[in-house]
Amino acid sequence: MTIYARITGTGSYLPEKILSNADMEKIVDTTDQWIRERTGIEQRHIAAEDEFTSDLATAAAKNAMDMAGKTSNDIDLIIVATTTPDQIFPSTACLVQQKLDIHGCTAFDVQAVCTGFVYALGIADNFIKAGTAKCALVIGAETLSRILDWNDRTTCVLFGDGAGAAIVEASDEPGILSSHLHADGSYGDLLNVPYGVSNGLNHVLSGEAHITMKGNEVFKMAVNTLGRIVDETLEANNMSKKDINWLVPHQANIRIINATAKKLSMSTDHVVVTVNKHGNTSAASVPLALDTAVRDGRIKKGETVMLEAFGGGFTWGSALLKM
Ligand code: COA
Repeated sequence: MTIYARITGTGSYLPEKILSNADMEKIVDTTDQWIRERTGIEQRHIAAEDEFTSDLATAAAKNAMDMAGKTSNDIDLIIVATTTPDQIFPSTACLVQQKLDIHGCTAFDVQAVCTGFVYALGIADNFIKAGTAKCALVIGAETLSRILDWNDRTTCVLFGDGAGAAIVEASDEPGILSSHLHADGSYGDLLNVPYGVSNGLNHVLSGEAHITMKGNEVFKMAVNTLGRIVDETLEANNMSKKDINWLVPHQANIRIINATAKKLSMSTDHVVVTVNKHGNTSAASVPLALDTAVRDGRIKKGETVMLEAFGGGFTWGSALLKM
């Protein structure tokens, strides 16, 4: 019998503190109008000082486990996609494992920046199809506010903190129909944090390790690349545009989202948009958007959903789901 992997629960968590565009006007030389028109963002959530990526991830995980009716004993794989781990090690996945009182299962982090959740979902799909896991907890969680330059108006207005999660279970019914994961490291300079542990630890320690981005170039690459991955995903499944009920895109910029929706000839009321409320939460953005539309009843069982993301690396990917 063929084993499939299906999403049986979703969850999310957003920190309490909200920074509106009006608040951003007090921090950098910007306006609510500029941010809304160029990005679609109205506000973003910011983690409290004592709130870490693993806390956000754990809260989202609990919500997903509740929806799927799972307890800690059921989980046999934890994958956390994050660019902003709590500490160098243990991995954020191990910290979440400990917070959920889970012992002994496989747990590791994935680093693919904004494509992280789609990567993690693709990995979980393969573990389940291979029979090495039966019930995976897949999380995207970020405290990006910690790596922003709050003096740089070209980046700090764009990002926010949050977490989203999914329970992915072995099933005899198709769930994840396909996943498509790509990267091209030759574009690393266009979007990065240029320092880390091995290269420039002194910059990290002095608080100078920030996101840098050539926004215009990233924008063009994102639109073209996401257009191509839509075609790749449809072709791999012998489907046409009309077979897709919902697009759940990475939430970086409403103009990028609209361009991908146009490529799919999809009306905007079948595109899940949360960028206005969350900003770009990197690895958390796709699962946060998915959870939003599952919980408010838009995405229903049996519908076909395309997830897609693009991020630093560059990395990009998609997954086609039967819910
Ligand atoms: N407030 C006001 N003005 C701003 C600003 C802000 N927050 N940020 C930049 N500007 C200014 C620039 O300085 C520039 O001024 P100039 O013309 O006097 O030089 C002007 O606005 C236009 O800047 P530009 O970068 O050309 O704007 P844009 O239309 O490309 O929009 C982004 C900028 C960042 C919103 C857009 O490029 C983008 O979304 N890029 C992709 C980002 C992304 O998705 N990254 C993550 C991928 S996962």
